[in-house]
Amino acid sequence: MTSIVISQCSVIDGPALAANSIPAFWADPHWVLAWRHRTLEYHISQIALRFPRNLLNNRDTMRHQKAVDPETGRILGYARWCLPPSYEINADDGTPIWPEAQVPAVEADKEAEIRQAAETVVWDPNNDADELSDRVTALKKEVTPKTPHISLEYLAVNPDNQRRGVGTALVKSGIDQANKMGLEIFVHAFQEGVPLYKRMGFRLIAELIQDDSKYGGSGEYGAYFFIYP
Ligand SMILES: CC(C)(COP(=O)(O)OP(=O)(O)OC[C@H]1O[C@@H](n2cnc3c(N)ncnc32)[C@H](O)[C@@H]1OP(=O)(O)O)[C@@H](O)C(=O)NCCC(=O)NCCS
Repeated sequence: MTSIVISQCSVIDGPALAANSIPAFWADPHWVLAWRHRTLEYHISQIALRFPRNLLNNRDTMRHQKAVDPETGRILGYARWCLPPSYEINADDGTPIWPEAQVPAVEADKEAEIRQAAETVVWDPNNDADELSDRVTALKKEVTPKTPHISLEYLAVNPDNQRRGVGTALVKSGIDQANKMGLEIFVHAFQEGVPLYKRMGFRLIAELIQDDSKYGGSGEYGAYFFIYP
């Protein structure tokens, strides 16, 4: 791949973003436990209906970027960021901060249609292993910075496009924005993202490794919390 372009997402990207992202998480031996009663294809089809709604939720503070192959226009990866409250608009003129990562609004009737479609989705994760995620949630609450920061909430590169610099380019875009705003970045990482965050200068501030083998997992379910810089 010669180059990667990072650009704004819009609601029409929803199905392609689902097709990019769900296979990435499907490869995670713990994450997939929640959906093992479904096929990958079925789950992608359901998330394709939710993605447009998620792109419109909390437009003030949420920012979304896709990595695109400029030759084919194909989506290679996706990142979702959350700005801290009161940092989403320029105080002087009320324009949005980081507008090139804000999803364009749609007409009210289109938005209603999108929200209605999302309501039809089958969302029935297997929650047998919830006691493990409850511990992760408690730790996350404890270590989340109390000062204003940007959160990296979602990062996914389709397995077909991994190890070519796509994830690095998406994270770099958020780092550039955080530097511009003078803010830290906080991320709850999965095991697969750990080398990338370390390489890019994130500091590991907490981790929790739990045994998920009794639920059918690999035995090592890791949650890692990083701050940049
Ligand atoms: C984690 C994830 C986002 C990384 O995406 P990616 O596009 O593969 O990331 P990059 O290509 O930028 O970097 C991955 C590795 O490829 C290497 N690489 C980058 N470009 C390369 C190239 N042209 N040739 C060879 N290797 C390359 C990088 O050095 C990096 O090595 P490292 O693992 O030692 O850091 C991706 O694996 C993923 O989506 N995983 C599943 C979901 C997930 O875990 N998301 C993170 C949640 S926090």
